[in-house]
Amino acid sequence: MSDKRIGILTSGGDCPGLNAVIRGAAKTAWRLGYDCIGFLKGYEGLYDPVQYVTLTRQNTSGILNQGGTILGSTNKGRFAATVGVQHRQQIKSELLEGVKATVEQLNLHGLVCIGGDGSLAIAQQFHEFGIPVVGVPKTIDNDLMATAFTFGFDSAVACATDALDRLHTTAASHERTFVMEVMGRHAGWIALHAGIAGGADVILIPEIPWTYDSVCRKILEREHRGKRFTLIVVAEGASLPDGGMVGVERDGAQAKLGGIGAIIAREIERRLLRETRTVVLGHLQRGGAPTTFDRVLATQYGAHAVRLIVEGRLGEMICYRPPQMDSVPICEAVNRIREVDPDGAAVQAARALGISFGDADEPQSPFVVRIGEVSTADDVAMDAAFALEMAEAAAEEALAE
Ligand code: F6P
Repeated sequence: MSDKRIGILTSGGDCPGLNAVIRGAAKTAWRLGYDCIGFLKGYEGLYDPVQYVTLTRQNTSGILNQGGTILGSTNKGRFAATVGVQHRQQIKSELLEGVKATVEQLNLHGLVCIGGDGSLAIAQQFHEFGIPVVGVPKTIDNDLMATAFTFGFDSAVACATDALDRLHTTAASHERTFVMEVMGRHAGWIALHAGIAGGADVILIPEIPWTYDSVCRKILEREHRGKRFTLIVVAEGASLPDGGMVGVERDGAQAKLGGIGAIIAREIERRLLRETRTVVLGHLQRGGAPTTFDRVLATQYGAHAVRLIVEGRLGEMICYRPPQMDSVPICEAVNRIREVDPDGAAVQAARALGISFGDADEPQSPFVVRIGEVSTADDVAMDAAFALEMAEAAAEEALAE
């Protein structure tokens, strides 16, 4: 037993990789001479009643590849520090006092808070109140500022990609259009990455306004080329063409998004008289084992979060800036969400392949932003190569007809 201790908790919606962070942090802490305790049910376990387990080699063995969290989690419990999207709410002072007392009684040198924007906003308030915390960025949505990747994202994308692969074969066999709705809240990262990896024909995300005309045109274009099936991926947080979002308002909490896929499918059927089916992946994206990438990322997050505590860098969140692990003040990560850049490299590449984002006016050349701002000559060569490729494809098609 050591007199030095580190606490750890998992908060908010679960995702693959939480256990890998817990294991990574605990193993690192032990080697540095700290004991490690895990609070149960997120922030709830910190106070009234205090609930924790001592992390040991036995209870952390074999959890690297396990989904969920051995510590349990709570979404929007008593400690909620935000209302709706990003509106700050003050945590009650009796709760903050209670947590401070717990931390002192248990002689915690630091508390590793693993969570998304809402959970890290709580950690930020703890920090401002003098409670020693560090943050670890978690969410399948990948929408946290200051880090290139949150863990859980890659696993969610793998799940959505696998679903698209499966839809591909059945859609082709039955000549159907499918609309697959994925999670991601107000960011389109999961839809974008799964759409590219799974060969979607249309990707609809919150960051790019779209129209039914454009989506239907894509379906007809494909039919014209003999492809009588179409795969559409839509992010749950995408707006409808009239600007509305689909979901259920919840008092004092973020709206529960979902349902846009079915609305889109209905409208396509109405306009084109084509059978159009919907698949909503939902929480399948949050369950199951983490991918290799997430295991590595989560393990690094766990190890480096402990390092932050040992080095006294409290109030910071560990973040991944490839190829380095870095850290930033937690407040920098929670002020606003990180959205897909509509002119970013992944969107440009998708457009170059002919994937539609349903925009009213699809750009002629997808290369809006130049690779690393290279010289004009390179730009011209790149666009020329693209134009040539398009012309060859058109010629091939014409010959085939
Ligand atoms: O933030 C992760 C996430 O899975 C979002 O993608 C989704 O909108 C939300 O959580 C669902 O939350 P809940 O499980 O509370 O309905």
